[in-house]
Amino acid sequence: MTTYPSSNLYMKGNKNNLIKGTRRIFFEKFTQTPEVLSISPGRINIIGEHVDYNAGLAMPVAIDKYICVAISKNNNKKINVFSSDLDEMLSVNLDRLTPTKLWHKYVLGSIVEALNNKNLKSGINLIINSTLPIGKGLSSSAALELAIIIGVLKIFNIQLNDNEIIKRCQLVDHHHIGIKSGKLDQSACLLSKEESVFVIDFQNSSVEYIPLDLAGGTWVLVDSMIKRELATSKYHERVEECEEAYRKLSTMIKGLSNFRDIKKEQYSIVDTLDNNLKHRVLHIIQENQRVLDMKDAIIDNNIKDIGNLLSRSHQSLKEYYEVSCHEIDYLIKSSEDLDYWYGGRLMGGGFGGNTLNLIKRGHENKYINIISSLYKKKYNIDCSSHLISFVNGAEIVDNISVD
Ligand code: GLA
Repeated sequence: MTTYPSSNLYMKGNKNNLIKGTRRIFFEKFTQTPEVLSISPGRINIIGEHVDYNAGLAMPVAIDKYICVAISKNNNKKINVFSSDLDEMLSVNLDRLTPTKLWHKYVLGSIVEALNNKNLKSGINLIINSTLPIGKGLSSSAALELAIIIGVLKIFNIQLNDNEIIKRCQLVDHHHIGIKSGKLDQSACLLSKEESVFVIDFQNSSVEYIPLDLAGGTWVLVDSMIKRELATSKYHERVEECEEAYRKLSTMIKGLSNFRDIKKEQYSIVDTLDNNLKHRVLHIIQENQRVLDMKDAIIDNNIKDIGNLLSRSHQSLKEYYEVSCHEIDYLIKSSEDLDYWYGGRLMGGGFGGNTLNLIKRGHENKYINIISSLYKKKYNIDCSSHLISFVNGAEIVDNISVD
């Protein structure tokens, strides 16, 4: 993934450099080599948006932009954390883990949740270093939580299964940040496998991998550069609307345990809800179906269907779930006239961030040029674009050969 304009649109090999750089910074700051290095990628989501907290289906995948963490225990009863991206140091005593800044909350919250609120037996030195842009809907926060949690588990020799690790990351959001997020981001960043996407069912956490090698298509992210300021408040509003819709429908549909259980002949019951709630529910029901249809389209390598499903998801996020914004809609609308654009949609929580687009292979540069200049003309904003490679999920660096 790289920023346009560039002649090298695929930027491979950045992972090793990031790991080496993190190790070097650790030595410079703490004059010791780290006991453990851990790394987590960011993620995109092909389809299945705003369904994770509704026990639905999604199809995420990790991408080649990372957060790397280096950790060692120390003997001075302090947690010392240096963020090389922010060029800031955090230093707190073990008995006073009071975070002030948002990034402190993520770091200290991740350490606390990794240890399940048990007292730390020793201090920790930690370095954070990354190539993953922050606040762009690519899950930099989930990647940070994961890299820290798996690193801390490793230095204290604690074994947890994947589901428990994902749960601990989610608890950081819930307990320390105050966001009632689902598990999409952490699951994507941990469970991904290179060259595949996977369908995850948030009702029972089951996962099915589907090899994806799109002959003829390239995934392109276009960053609207719009900060997702409404994202947190509107996210909570949507979560609460879904809870309310579920409560109301449960009184009318016997045994309802998931919006996915609602049958076509019961849609008239959904119709009795207020317009807003009705639209939220329709998005969830249809988005779950689109994930299943996407799986079929990928298996059939039917690039047109894949593109159409992306665009239908966008329409639904715009009209039914109301999480889009003018700039994102403009990026999608202006792409519709280009015959090498198969489809696209807003991605992640919404209200800004990136669009995900499927482009006929060989037309990426043309697409990026055209969309950038249209966007600049309309909003006077330079958007940036990235091509994506899919990668494996978070891991401890032991197993990675760093040359
Ligand atoms: C954010 C949340 C996820 C998910 C997406 C929308 O990224 O963190 O849990 O709800 O929005 O699909």
